[in-house]
Amino acid sequence: MLLRILPALSFALIVGAVPNPQQAKPGGQPKCRFSPCYTQAQILNDPNPFISDVLYWEGRFHQNNVSYNSYNGMSYDGTLLDESTGLATAKHPFSAASKEALQIMLYAHAMVGSPQAARFLSPDNTGAAPDMAMNIMALKLKTYLRFNETYPGFGGFLPWFTGDSMDIQPTWDWVNRVPALDNGELIWAVYSAIQAMETSSNRKYQNLARQWQAWLDYIKLTAAKVFYAGNGVVCAVTDIGDQSFPINDPRQTYKCEGSGTLNDPYEGELFTWWLYFFGGLSRKDKDVLWKVKRPQLVSVEYKMGGVGPITVQKGFWFSAHEQWKVMEIPYYDVDLVKRLFTNAERARTCNSVVTKVPGMFASVNNSTDPTTGQIIGYISNAGIPSIANQTVQEVDVITPYSVFPVVLIDNAVGMVWWKNMADGKKMQNPYGSSESTRVDGTAMSSFVSWDSKITTVNAILGGVSDLVRQKMKTDSIYNEFISVTQREYGAVFKNLKGENIGLCLPSKKVPDRGLVDYTQCQ
Ligand SMILES: *[C@@H]1O[C@H](CO)[C@@H](O)[C@H](O)[C@H]1NC(C)=O
Ligand SMILES: *[C@@H]1O[C@H](CO)[C@@H](O)[C@H](O)[C@H]1NC(C)=O
Ligand SMILES: *[C@@H]1O[C@H](CO)[C@@H](O)[C@H](O)[C@H]1NC(C)=O
Ligand SMILES: *[C@@H]1O[C@H](CO)[C@@H](O)[C@H](O)[C@H]1NC(C)=O
Ligand SMILES: *[C@@H]1O[C@H](CO)[C@@H](O)[C@H](O)[C@H]1NC(C)=O
Repeated sequence: MLLRILPALSFALIVGAVPNPQQAKPGGQPKCRFSPCYTQAQILNDPNPFISDVLYWEGRFHQNNVSYNSYNGMSYDGTLLDESTGLATAKHPFSAASKEALQIMLYAHAMVGSPQAARFLSPDNTGAAPDMAMNIMALKLKTYLRFNETYPGFGGFLPWFTGDSMDIQPTWDWVNRVPALDNGELIWAVYSAIQAMETSSNRKYQNLARQWQAWLDYIKLTAAKVFYAGNGVVCAVTDIGDQSFPINDPRQTYKCEGSGTLNDPYEGELFTWWLYFFGGLSRKDKDVLWKVKRPQLVSVEYKMGGVGPITVQKGFWFSAHEQWKVMEIPYYDVDLVKRLFTNAERARTCNSVVTKVPGMFASVNNSTDPTTGQIIGYISNAGIPSIANQTVQEVDVITPYSVFPVVLIDNAVGMVWWKNMADGKKMQNPYGSSESTRVDGTAMSSFVSWDSKITTVNAILGGVSDLVRQKMKTDSIYNEFISVTQREYGAVFKNLKGENIGLCLPSKKVPDRGLVDYTQCQ
């Protein structure tokens, strides 16, 4: 079979340097259904006009009562869309620390004056974007602090919460419970935002940085108490004795829920780093944190349909979601990690070509039932079975956000894959891209969420690792971050195979099986 292979890395360097005459004027409104108007070749030649349109329309998700609450600054999980018009119907009034992380990373970029973040947040008045972000960050902190006053048992961390009144509450199923993974994502997002604010020349930003720093300093004190069970065991979910008792109340208790421990070498590692650097653990406990994680960091070779071998880090499912950690901390400063994660995207893109799939896989919400408008279920087990720990997978639904790790490496190739999925019927709506589509084009998900959309936007913005690196240096933890990462990855990955293989480009389209585009996105 014929693979369309591109020497992607050198290519990206070249296009990055070329000025771009046909870029849309800032503030101009592109057509809602813009994706099919571009060709692959146009995006590869210069991804910036396409990216400008993506940012504009993904930014329509950032509206009060759609993706966040402008009264308290908190994110909403997402919203269902009308099957015919594509307009928001029933929002999910709840959210979690992971969505907060995506929102805060975006604001970090806006506060340092990123034109791309401004295009997303405030395309009609890009100059207003930094203050807009800063004001929401101020409201959000007030909400976090009121939550901490009412529910001091969380130690400042967030459970899944409902956010549609001024004060947030744990959702009914998260009363007295708190997850580590999502909070790890939140912590480093806040860390980046503080860096953005404290380096501003504006007093207001500097003051807000100090207030957020107090929150961060507080969760340094509580992290081990809430999540660390000793002997390297970090609770995946902690059961809290009583969320309304203060953390040091003699009646208060913390214990891991069931046998679930946070020891994954994927996004859960963000929380491990926090404990490692700031949890106040002994040298012995710090070392054992990595020791218990070691068996999960595994090398595996991708080989299929004439592609490979490509050495990659074995995935849990190999869902794109698992790569989240590189968006937040400067892992790519370790050359071995950058090369290994580039290999992962060689495998991800080429796998979809050899298996003739028009997009890529990541854990995602399933299609909506067109008669009820409700989501059928959540597909966790979506990735690449041959290079995953979990080999039983459902690989019939693809999602635009599966491109975000590709975008971090080569934004042109990433956007070409995004286009290929967005071109599917109904895959664009008045809030940007839709959640997911079946590979066979028979159904899709009339839903929009932070995870399925704003991961890609944050990857377009380059993630926040540049900001995090600076603050890690100020905090004198950067060198140790590099040496531990080098030590752990270097012990498992010696010589990488497949580095000469290019990223692959999509060759199949999502079939038109009669779904009709939304009337409000033409
Ligand atoms: C907010 O959105 C919901 C649907 O999610 C809608 O029912 C409600 O009227 C909206 N509220 C306001 C104030 O617009
Ligand atoms: C959170 O609440 C506790 C207990 O009331 C308090 O001691 C702590 O200072 C609060 N944290 C922050 C960041 O205000
Ligand atoms: C799927 O739905 C859940 C629950 O509503 C939401 O938190 C998540 O962001 C959605 N999308 C993805 C890609 O997980
Ligand atoms: C996803 O939806 C399809 C029908 O469109 C169904 O066959 C499949 O079992 C669903 N999977 C999950 C995990 O909900
Ligand atoms: C999956 O991971 C667990 C825990 O590390 C390990 O015991 C198991 O052998 C792994 N299975 C595969 C198929 O990689």
